[in-house]
Amino acid sequence: MRLTVIGTGYLGATHAACMAELGHDVLGVDVDPEKVAALSAGRVPFHEPGLPELIAKHTASGRLRFTTSFAEAGAFGEVHFVCVGTPQRADSGAADLGHVDAAFAALAAHAAPDALVVGKSTVPVGTAERLARTYATEVAWNPEFLREGFAVEDTLRPDRLVFGVESARAETILRAVYAPVLAAGTPLVTADFPTAELVKTAANAFLATKISFINAMAEVCEAAGGDVRTLAEALGHDDRIGPKFLRAGIGFGGGCLPKDIRAFAHRADELGVPLTFLREVDAINMRRRDRVVELARELCGPDVLGARVTVLGAAFKPGSDDIRDSPALAVAARLRLEGADVTVHDPEAMDNARKAFPLLGYALSLEDALRGADLVLHLTEWPQFRAIDPERAAALVARPRIVDGRGVLDADRWAAAGWRLWALGTPAPVGEGH
Ligand code: UGA
Repeated sequence: MRLTVIGTGYLGATHAACMAELGHDVLGVDVDPEKVAALSAGRVPFHEPGLPELIAKHTASGRLRFTTSFAEAGAFGEVHFVCVGTPQRADSGAADLGHVDAAFAALAAHAAPDALVVGKSTVPVGTAERLARTYATEVAWNPEFLREGFAVEDTLRPDRLVFGVESARAETILRAVYAPVLAAGTPLVTADFPTAELVKTAANAFLATKISFINAMAEVCEAAGGDVRTLAEALGHDDRIGPKFLRAGIGFGGGCLPKDIRAFAHRADELGVPLTFLREVDAINMRRRDRVVELARELCGPDVLGARVTVLGAAFKPGSDDIRDSPALAVAARLRLEGADVTVHDPEAMDNARKAFPLLGYALSLEDALRGADLVLHLTEWPQFRAIDPERAAALVARPRIVDGRGVLDADRWAAAGWRLWALGTPAPVGEGH
């Protein structure tokens, strides 16, 4: 089939490449000529394992092209996927639908009258129906659940597909688009527009709630003398709870969970169904950042003024160079404001971090980052950081003190190597340090 994908950010570029992999002829469309030029040359402007190879494969095979022209897209596509961003509005926390509306308006002007426009962007419930009415187009809603770092895998082998459709024709077309994925046994849920839109926001709200739940338990463990890592392990053995998304730590960040729960809470208010618990989920998440700053102050005592603090991690999670709403960088910036001399190291996100936080210090190697530090903060759980040898690291730093903001370091091993280690979700540091 001939498909277009409008918006070639992280979601759109992945979707376009994966649709070509499924055998379709795909035209990616973006208003940014630089992005189009980069992708056309097989360059992906962000870190996503497997995606550069897939884009190179299909730009070479001729099944995948990119353009800035909506006229070309309209003439080309039988089905148009809208994958543009829905950022958070600064005034209210609501989703900004400017890019979505612009894409639908451009398609209304150029697409064939019988083309199907499929929304994939995360939108407030009620948007699909409004767009169908406003732009007099046949619309379907097909939310996306991919995770950064696993985007290709999640698109080609998703846990489920959700089709929000209002006609048998739209369902038939979407079934044809995803035929190989459905043939592999992927569960399909068909729904009306509001339900399809809600599946996405509800899924992200649930994931955020699960993380904040365990982080609230971390606060209780800190006060009551427990250890949240052992608590989470024991809870996770219950099939009804499960171990996933129960890793306590510095909390969730990124371009999705934080903005999506705020937009959902805002939309629910509009509908007269206040989801006040989502505000608490957000507040618990933010308090974890405060807690790391508190521990840094306590370990440096009485404040961090003049202390050389090394922050391990800038990406919002490992496997990504995305620094949007990164908890690690939020803490780094706070400590700098409090007078610490902060040096950041990350295996992938250094360039993005430097652009967004030019006043922080950056070290290109892990060794340089550790050398002379008075305090180390482990804030993004890259495997490289877990693999640090605490004895070698102790020889590099000025004072062997570390906060484990992700709760994955082997505390006994670090203590045995002379470190004083304080993990979030535990009441006190272990080891002597100095
Ligand atoms: C999230 C969802 O997981 C995807 O299903 C969804 O499609 C995507 O948002 C989206 O809306 O586009 P992503 O933002 O890539 O995906 O990241 P996650 O893997 O969900 O992690 C989110 C944050 O939670 C990270 O900062 C991570 O470090 C944190 N996290 C995750 C925890 O603190 N604890 C956990 O147990 C799990």
